[in-house]
Amino acid sequence: MSKKLFTTFILICCCTALTLRAGPAVSARKDVPWWQHAVFYEIYPRSFTDSNNDGIGDLRGITSKLGYLKDLGIDAIWLTPCYPSPQVDFGYDVSDYKNIDPVYGTLKDFDRLEREASKQGIWIIMDFVLNHTSDQHKWFIDSRSSRTSARRDWYIWHDGRGPGQPPNNWLSIFGGSAWKFDPATNQYYYHRFYPEQPDLNWRNPAVENAMFDVTRWWYKRGVAGFRLDAVSNLFEDPDLRDNPLLPGVNYLGDPKMEDRYNDNLPEVHEVLHDLRKVADEYKAVLIGETWASTAAELKQYYGARGDELQMPMDLAFTKITTLSATEFRNHIAAVDSAGGWPVYVINNHDIVRSYVRYGDGQHNDAIAKLLAGLYLTLRGTPIMYYGEEIGMENNGPVRKEDVKDPVGRVGWPLDKGRDGERTPMQWNDAPNAGFTQGTPWLPIPPSYKSHNVAAELKDPNSVLNFYKQLLALRRHNAALLDGEYIPINKDDPNVLSYVRRTASQTVLVALNMCAAPQTVSFDLSPQGLASTKVHTLLSSTATTQEPDLTQLSLPPFAVYIGEIDK
Ligand code: GLC
Repeated sequence: MSKKLFTTFILICCCTALTLRAGPAVSARKDVPWWQHAVFYEIYPRSFTDSNNDGIGDLRGITSKLGYLKDLGIDAIWLTPCYPSPQVDFGYDVSDYKNIDPVYGTLKDFDRLEREASKQGIWIIMDFVLNHTSDQHKWFIDSRSSRTSARRDWYIWHDGRGPGQPPNNWLSIFGGSAWKFDPATNQYYYHRFYPEQPDLNWRNPAVENAMFDVTRWWYKRGVAGFRLDAVSNLFEDPDLRDNPLLPGVNYLGDPKMEDRYNDNLPEVHEVLHDLRKVADEYKAVLIGETWASTAAELKQYYGARGDELQMPMDLAFTKITTLSATEFRNHIAAVDSAGGWPVYVINNHDIVRSYVRYGDGQHNDAIAKLLAGLYLTLRGTPIMYYGEEIGMENNGPVRKEDVKDPVGRVGWPLDKGRDGERTPMQWNDAPNAGFTQGTPWLPIPPSYKSHNVAAELKDPNSVLNFYKQLLALRRHNAALLDGEYIPINKDDPNVLSYVRRTASQTVLVALNMCAAPQTVSFDLSPQGLASTKVHTLLSSTATTQEPDLTQLSLPPFAVYIGEIDK
C-alpha cells in the first residue's frame, strides 16, 4: 500500500476512535447493571508501577497511572491482593484482611486511589482470599496454639492415620500432601495451597461471620465488589474420604487424582448465596475464580435464581492452546447459552500470557489483535490483564535459583511457576521499562524496547492503539454491548464469524484464525438480512473501500468488524 493511502487509513481509524469517545456512553444505561457493560482490568500491584523505587509496584504507582487507564478505556480495576502478607504466595496468603501491606502503601494510599479512580469513573474491585489465610494470621496463630484454643475450629485439624501418615490422600495444588503435621499439638492441618496457607473451616459459622464482616468493611470504604479467590475449594468432605486415584503422575510428580472430596462440594453454593446477600446490601458485584470443566458447571455459580455470583469467570479460553476457530466457536456457544451473563478471560497472573500461548513468532502482534477482536466483541464482560494491551510476553525464569513463585521450584523444570506472566508493566524503553529506578523484583523481557506504552502510543498500527480503538467502539455500540450472539458460517475451520444483534443494529465480527489469507462469503438471509453491504467499524488491517459481504478478504489473523446495512 502507498504511504499516503496508509496514512489516510490510519487517520480514519484514529478519527473514528476519537469520535467514539465523545458523547454519552451506552454503559450509562440505567436498566443494565454497570458491570455488564464494563471492561475490567486486572492489576498485579507488585508489577504495575513502582513509586518509591524499591523494585516492587505499589498503590501510589497505580494512582499515578489512572490517566493511562482512563484513556485506554477500561471501567474497573481488579486489584490482586495487597493486604498485609508474608508474600509466600505474593499476597494470596493474607495475614490481615483489613489493612494494606506496607510494601504497597497504606490505607490512606488505598483511599486516595479509590477516590481518584472514582473521579475518573473507574471502579475498584478487591481480591477476596476466602478459602485460606496466611499461617501468620492471628486467627491461625491462635488456632495452632492448643487443641482447646478458641479458634481451633476455625481451621481444619485432624489426627493422622498413623505415625507419620496424614489423615487421607488429598493433595495440595502446589504439590505434595495437603496436610501438614504440627508437632505443637500433634495434629495435621489442611492446606489446599501452600502449607503457609491453611484452609479456613467454612462449616464454622464464626468463620463465615468474620469473613462476611471483612467484605462489609471494604464495601464501606468504597470498593465496588470482590473477585473471589479459589471458590470451589471452600469445603471438604467431613468424613475425609480418600480421593479416587487416576493413572499417571502430574507435572509436580504427584499421583493424578479426581478431587471428588475436596473440590466443588455443593455447600460452596450456600456460602456464595449468603455472600451475595451481603453484596446486595451494598450493590456490589461478585466475580468468581470459577474453574469449571463444563458450561453446565459454570452455570451453577450464577445460582438457581441468579442469586450467587453475578460474574463467574469463564476461564476455559486459557485452556484452548491453539487458534482453532472450531474450538473457540464450540466453547463460546456453550457459555453463551449457559443462561447467565458471560465473563471472558484470556490472561491472568496464573497463566502463560496469550501472546506466547498463541503467538507463532511471525504474526504475534496480529494474533494479539485477533484475540482482542474476539473476546472484546463477545456478549459478556471481558476481564483484561495488565500488559496484554501492549502485547507483553512471558519472561519465565531461566535458572531454578531465580524462581520466585515456590511452585516453580517444586515443579522445575516441567513447571517453572508463574513468575513469567507477572513481570513488570512496560511503560517505555528507558532502563527497567520505566517501571522502577530500583531493581525490579522480576526481570523484564528484552521485547520491552519495542512493546511499551510510550512507543505504542506513537505507532498507529500498534497492539495498544488497536485495543484503544476497539474499547472505544465497544463502549458506544449497543449491538456489541447488548446484542444477541449469533454464530454464522459455522463450518468454516479457519474463520470465526458471528453477528451481534439488537432490534435496530447488526454488527458482523470476522476473525481469521490462520496464517493464510481467507476470502469469506456471508449469506445473512437466514437472519432476515437481505443486504450484502457492510459499513466498516474497525479492521486490524487496512481497508480501502467498503467490502462486499459475498467476498470479504481477510489477511492472515485479521479482525474485521462492520455494521450490516439494513
Ligand atoms: C488463586 C490465585 C492464585 C493463588 C491461589 C491460592 O488461584 O489466582 O494466584 O496462588 O488462588 O490463593
